[in-house]
Amino acid sequence: MESGKVLANRVGKISLKSVNLPFDPSEFPREKSRHYISATEEDLKDMLSEIGLGELSQLFGHIDPNLLFPHPLSLPEEESYFEVADKISEISNLSNLKVSFIGDQLPVWKTPPIVDFVSNLRNLSTSYTPYQPERSQGTLVTHWIYQCAISHLTGFEAINTSLYDRSFAIYEAITCAIRTSRKSSRILLASSLFPQEIEVLKTLSRETGIRFDFLDSNLDTGRCDYNLLSSFTIEDLKQYSAFVFPQVNSLGVLEDVDLLTNFCEDNQIRSIACIDPFLLGEGGLKPPVEFGRSGADFIAGDAQHLAIPPNFGGPGLGIFGCRHNNEKKSDLRNTPGRYIGQAKDMKGRDCHVMVLSTREQHIRKEKATSNVCSNQAFLATLAGASILSQGSKGLGEAVEIANRNQQKVIDAIDLLEGIEPAFTENNSPTELTIRTNKSSSVLLHNARSAGIHFGIDISERIKGLDSSETLIKISFSNLHSEECIDSLISFLESEFPSTTSGNSNAKFQIEERYLRKQSVGIPAYTDEELTEYYGKLAELNVSPDDGCYPLGSCTMKYNPLLNDWAAGLKGFAEVHPQAPVEDIQGPLKVLYEIQEWFKGITGLSGITTQPVAGAQGELVGIKLFQAYHRSKGDYDRKFILIPRSAHGTNFATAAMAGYPDGIVYLEANEQGKIDLHDFTKKISKYGDQLCGVMITNPNTSGIFETDFKKIADAVHQAGGLVYMDGANMNAIAGIVNLSELGVDAVHNNLHKTWTIPHGGGGPGDAIVAVSEKLVDFLPGKQIIKLHDGTYDFEIPTHSIGSFHRNWGNFGHKVRAYTYLLRLGQKGIPRMSSVAVLSARYLFEKLKDRYHTLSTKVSDSPRMHEFILTLSEEDFSNLENHGIPKNQAIPQIGKLFLDFGFHAPTVAFPEIFGLMIEPTESYTKKELDRFVEAVLAIKDIIEDAPFVLKSAPHFTPIARVDEVSANRNLRLHEPLDRLPPLPHNRISPSELMRLDVDEIKSRIIQLAKDTQGLV
Ligand SMILES: Cc1ncc(COP(=O)(O)O)c(C=O)c1O
Repeated sequence: MESGKVLANRVGKISLKSVNLPFDPSEFPREKSRHYISATEEDLKDMLSEIGLGELSQLFGHIDPNLLFPHPLSLPEEESYFEVADKISEISNLSNLKVSFIGDQLPVWKTPPIVDFVSNLRNLSTSYTPYQPERSQGTLVTHWIYQCAISHLTGFEAINTSLYDRSFAIYEAITCAIRTSRKSSRILLASSLFPQEIEVLKTLSRETGIRFDFLDSNLDTGRCDYNLLSSFTIEDLKQYSAFVFPQVNSLGVLEDVDLLTNFCEDNQIRSIACIDPFLLGEGGLKPPVEFGRSGADFIAGDAQHLAIPPNFGGPGLGIFGCRHNNEKKSDLRNTPGRYIGQAKDMKGRDCHVMVLSTREQHIRKEKATSNVCSNQAFLATLAGASILSQGSKGLGEAVEIANRNQQKVIDAIDLLEGIEPAFTENNSPTELTIRTNKSSSVLLHNARSAGIHFGIDISERIKGLDSSETLIKISFSNLHSEECIDSLISFLESEFPSTTSGNSNAKFQIEERYLRKQSVGIPAYTDEELTEYYGKLAELNVSPDDGCYPLGSCTMKYNPLLNDWAAGLKGFAEVHPQAPVEDIQGPLKVLYEIQEWFKGITGLSGITTQPVAGAQGELVGIKLFQAYHRSKGDYDRKFILIPRSAHGTNFATAAMAGYPDGIVYLEANEQGKIDLHDFTKKISKYGDQLCGVMITNPNTSGIFETDFKKIADAVHQAGGLVYMDGANMNAIAGIVNLSELGVDAVHNNLHKTWTIPHGGGGPGDAIVAVSEKLVDFLPGKQIIKLHDGTYDFEIPTHSIGSFHRNWGNFGHKVRAYTYLLRLGQKGIPRMSSVAVLSARYLFEKLKDRYHTLSTKVSDSPRMHEFILTLSEEDFSNLENHGIPKNQAIPQIGKLFLDFGFHAPTVAFPEIFGLMIEPTESYTKKELDRFVEAVLAIKDIIEDAPFVLKSAPHFTPIARVDEVSANRNLRLHEPLDRLPPLPHNRISPSELMRLDVDEIKSRIIQLAKDTQGLV
């Protein structure tokens, strides 16, 4: 398979029964293989025989058979490639797309063609978080562009490379404000925020001590009631850490952001402005850096609409920014998420690298300020490309078109009776809220019959509205043609009688002080410039398409093209999350079906599809535990047991849920599993205060916790609950019944086991399954199937609330569902079995040359991954050659890059470990080549250790000086030119064609040349 193949450029379409695929699947060998397993039956037999087994089922012989599912699973049979394509296309056709004026929480704009092009660059879309900067400059530069673009639009110096969505970004800004203001945990919220995001904030803040007060809106102006600001007592003002307000607000009106920001500054309250980046182009709204006298302190927002169509509400793209200049520097290190900085490599070349990671959960564990891990990286990549294609002028022009459409409708309404603009001053340039005496349900229904999604009923968003009146918000964009606007006007004319008098004396001009004064200056680049540039960026990365991508714990498996195609079908991608239920049947069916599949896969009773990443799934789990205990009147259960080797998100999650002091570490025994002796001591100490336990299974050393059931029973006995971190489900999916195991909640990372592309760091996704006791507490909406075969939704009776203002990362559910249809009941256990077989095969081939961790268990059966390390002799040999022990493993990681592979996971969960996970995607020949390379690396370590000092040698840049990049943070630059790019010294695909011995000698020679050795 060629790397970075650009599918968007392909012409040969393949016609199926009812669909056209934009690519020919037979050109992509992994795409057509059954269950996406490339190894042949013969390969599998040989690999089994190499490890002394005869059948795949024997791989699980060390697990209690009572915990295993009887086979076949009670799940649907697999379907052929083309049947799946037809089926998914038929489901998408259940959606009704109409001329839509629904925007509200998720405005909808045209996305430029470059977005589609970049989405299909596999080396960008399928690669992992850029932890290895020498082989990830492609991803790093795309994120850099996003950071710089949002920085220019907002004026904020520090923009992170995304959080999940706007509501999560607001919550993170709130917790930052609390930490940095050193006041109390009281927060003032404008009631004019979106109600759905307020619900998310309430859900996230439960049991954390954060308290929200609200500033009501004024019915006449549609803005915060500014008179109320003077009614706060001095005591209140002393306590508020932050005030959160929107620009534009949820009623479609501009807030007086100067007044609000100055109010904050006057009272030492941190200001958090919720913004829409699309409105900040040339001629648009003024940037948050200019709010009030000194600008807002933090910004939060969403940029999904800059990157992709609505996708039924997700993946979103949470914007988060803070100030970072000579006056304000200290906030940055208190903020969550990833930042990209400019850096130099060891040869002084310019490059980019992730900075500030010492604040992140994988380092600080429970002291981390957030549990966010996977972010929305690929959406940031796309949003960056979209902005470069439109330029800030293009954004301004788009808003101007929407504004002309708005004006036209206002003029038409002026001649009608019984309908009028609800607010007369400073309306959003792209939205209009109308007030009418007609019932909103009748109006929306009639509009629907006329082929129009008219807008959103927002009457509930403001107090004091006469019960006979309704407010409907209409959104305009550059997607609306003249005909669309005319059809809306005709509809209104059919509903309301005309008047000749004209009923409005409204000042619809936006006051100058709300508008941008200075140009943003982001130029627009041509499609040719951008396709060439992004094509080159892709070549700087590697993809799991190209060969084994051995990052342990991350499950870098092949991501089927069919899934991406399915997610892009109009009946999924163009559906707005707030459209009427009759018109969203396609998405609802996918969500319903996937709910049912995951009940079968886990053996558990309830599912939520709302969480957008593994870490968020963990938080859902712990909040469910809290709700369950509190429902029993039990308020003292505040301790969580977590194995020391767990992923950093587990600890950070417990802290975020309100237990920073309630984490109890569980120790491991010599077999690398939970030490039962230690566990027993702790459970007797914390028993009646125990909220629950969080265990990764198989654990992060790739070993199945054979005492899991015993531990779960003891936790239940003590009244606690059991969370299983399911990041490693790819070893046991369809094999182990989690209900038998005693699991109460588990997350399934869709971007690992279930083939969602990693996107250079996200979007991830997580489906959480729960036991019967937690079903009534589930968050978000449960999808139900009605007797007539249609779908609807309901809120569980004691729901803990909502973690996302829409339906989660819906686009990813389509991908995972498409994958499941291909796997069927036989494919799921086969996928897990081959993943385990591949790992065990590699382990067998490598264990004689490398030491393995845990040290005492070289014979213990590994599951889907394993950890290699060096002997003490190797380490001291390296030390004698100037490579300190603590740098040896990361430096060995760089050698993998020289062989054309990505590095394994280095230094997690064991500081001296290389964690390798091959997945089920590769043939025996590919695995054998990988083994050859890993053995060649061992030769180098033993015979030519000096090589490590200058590795990597073939990547576009030499080793990056991360220390200086962190010390001298450079977080943005002008985008008046495209950032210059380095070139591959030898491309990964060229390396893949070379003989391993040949690569080895070239590396050694190059190392000698670089280091001046003879
Ligand atoms: C074991 C484990 N748990 C949790 C997570 C967090 O998942 P996410 O990145 O989707 O938030 C990861 C991610 O790598 C993981 O490996």
